[in-house]
Amino acid sequence: MDWNAQLYDQKHAFVFQYGEDVIELLCPKAGERILDLGCGTGHLTKLIQQEGADVLGIDSSSMMVDKAVEKFPDVDFQVANAEKLVFENEFDAVFSNAVLHWVKDQRALLDGVYKALKTGGRFVAEMGGKGNVGVIISALRKALQEFDYKQQAETRMWFFPSLGEYSTMLERSGFKVTYAVHYDRDTLLNDQEEGVEKWIAMFGAAFLEGVKAEDKEQIIKKVTKMVEPSYRKGDGWYADYKRLRFIAVK
Ligand code: BEZ
Repeated sequence: MDWNAQLYDQKHAFVFQYGEDVIELLCPKAGERILDLGCGTGHLTKLIQQEGADVLGIDSSSMMVDKAVEKFPDVDFQVANAEKLVFENEFDAVFSNAVLHWVKDQRALLDGVYKALKTGGRFVAEMGGKGNVGVIISALRKALQEFDYKQQAETRMWFFPSLGEYSTMLERSGFKVTYAVHYDRDTLLNDQEEGVEKWIAMFGAAFLEGVKAEDKEQIIKKVTKMVEPSYRKGDGWYADYKRLRFIAVK
């Protein structure tokens, strides 16, 4: 997936702002070697470094990594695929915020993280959990069906597991899960109703691949109307995020 690093920083800063309290869960210590898996534009990687850790940020998008290097030239960043990690017994902790649900081969990812950690090292992450953004996904599917885009309506982009499902997968890769929660966190979108369109442009573009420009506009309008009753709350529009957070130890 090609990421728009500019749009991500300007309109979707909530992704890393919410990630700041995942850093509290990580509790980085001075001198620890930490991998930030899926670092995006590097905001959280920098915060981890400011705690005194020796941190490496990796992301599969070269556009994101270029932006991260430009913003934080004193932090180490690399382009790397989360399904093909090459590290062995190197890190005290692996950290990841809002990334794991994008990864197709979860077994390869979890085995790679396990291998990358030192014995006793921890994997601390937050990702979308079961039911995440369910309202917008079902509105997108419905609107696409109505406009006869059956194939696009079947798009599967993300993996949003339940707590039990992901804990089992972590255990299968050798981890001991010492903490896990699944909770609702309604997430304020920038730009009121236009926030839905911008969210789709940033994260859900694959649903609209091959859709004619004039239909796209109509579909987005329809989706916005469909989600409005649950997304509009007072002055703001809130997306139905469900988070899964865990600590798993090697
Ligand atoms: C999330 O962080 O939960 C998320 C972000 C983009 C698309 C889907 C989910």
